[in-house]
Amino acid sequence: MQQYLDLFQQLALQHCQQNRAVSEPIQASQLQHMIDVSIGADGAELDDLKQAAGQYLKFQPDSGQVDFFKLLYSGRNNPALLGDWVASLGNANMHTFQVSPVATLMELELIDQWNRLVGFTTDSRAGDGVMVSGGSQANLIAMMMARHQAMPDIKAKGLTGQTLVAFVSDQAHYSAQKAANLLGIGTDNLIAVASDAQGRLCPQALAIAIETSLEQGHLPFFIGLTAGTTVLGAFDPVMECRAIADQHGMWLHIDGAWGAPVLFSQHHRHLLNGSDLADSFAWDAHKLMNVPITAAVILTRHQGLLELACGGGGGDYLFHSDENATYNLGQKSIQCGRRADALKVWLSWKAVGSNGFADKVNRLQELKRRCVEAINTSDCLYMIGPAVYLNVLFQYRPTTSMTETQLRELNIALCKHMQAQGCAYVDYAKYQGKTGIRLILANDETQYQDIQRLLDHCLQFGAELRQISSKG
Ligand SMILES: Cc1ncc(COP(=O)(O)O)c(C=O)c1O
Repeated sequence: MQQYLDLFQQLALQHCQQNRAVSEPIQASQLQHMIDVSIGADGAELDDLKQAAGQYLKFQPDSGQVDFFKLLYSGRNNPALLGDWVASLGNANMHTFQVSPVATLMELELIDQWNRLVGFTTDSRAGDGVMVSGGSQANLIAMMMARHQAMPDIKAKGLTGQTLVAFVSDQAHYSAQKAANLLGIGTDNLIAVASDAQGRLCPQALAIAIETSLEQGHLPFFIGLTAGTTVLGAFDPVMECRAIADQHGMWLHIDGAWGAPVLFSQHHRHLLNGSDLADSFAWDAHKLMNVPITAAVILTRHQGLLELACGGGGGDYLFHSDENATYNLGQKSIQCGRRADALKVWLSWKAVGSNGFADKVNRLQELKRRCVEAINTSDCLYMIGPAVYLNVLFQYRPTTSMTETQLRELNIALCKHMQAQGCAYVDYAKYQGKTGIRLILANDETQYQDIQRLLDHCLQFGAELRQISSKG
């Protein structure tokens, strides 16, 4: 054990202290020739394992750095890291209290806290929930609860002739399609409702789409809103959609995988006004709360429905009716074995308190404001969508004479060039026909000068790339 602890300490310190590029682009075929990942019949020495673990870290883009703007998380969360390591050490299994006693109590506390923030738990009622592997699974379970509410017989008898129809916006995450596929709804019966100029689901378009499906003799059962869309960070209007859902007895879900943490902030929680009116809510702790992947939750205001929709028979060998039976979380989950993700979330929340997350949201929103201001005052950078949250989608556009196809090529080349130079890791994305740079502000340590440096690089490299392409 001691050798492994020493090795781990060495790797961890080296990884966190080294001065390296945020990410080095590498082709898969190149990497396959550089490292040996084969497994043989004979065992290897500790030194071989050390080398392999070192290589894993060496080629891993460093999401801990302030220049990592690519994904919906960034930075290093030390209390959560401690939780991740200790969770592996204890190897709790979250199906039953007996084999996860402290982690179960922690998960219940987290679910209560999350439910209070969303508004499902108040002084007079309590919401329900269970931790899941991520927003995708949370969205799947939300649709499963909705399906159960609409047609409970499907659980035992399978799908009948009735066509169930679900609605999300055209900006929703692709996990909605996976859910429609997995649950037998069919991806053709997942309707992508038009969004408005702000990237928010348009309630009028939703109402029309529902009417159309009713005219076709179908059963509209699920409306999936997004709080913080993946590309633009838009927040769909909850109240209007709740009213539409009520007219048709439909389930209203909010995918807050990315945007939910605004609920910590008194200044920004208005973006999620009406969250308490939803039937279910998805929240990823491994996005803005920056807990190492994976950690997420599905919440619902309907007590007992998770168990009804997800629970099944045949678990007698595991779920004994002992004095702790009411603490067993397993029947609310679609998993059997489930990691104690609660520990890392709990430790990091305990360490900074709810106010710590509120401060993070407030600070990053202010940084976003200054970033957008700098883009708007630049001659060659243009916002290509509003930034109400922490996604800044902008385009390098040196002249008005370039076509969108040319601008797309230039902006993609710019992202790749910045990565190759090791100065920043950003991604590109398309919104309403325009391709630009998607800058995600998720790292607590990011300062305005880091943003300024990135924008300067965009202008400098953009001009250089343009010169090269005009010569070619
Ligand atoms: C809005 C939204 N919902 C859901 C997901 C999927 O979450 P996960 O990767 O945790 O499954 C994402 C991922 O980026 C997302 O942006």
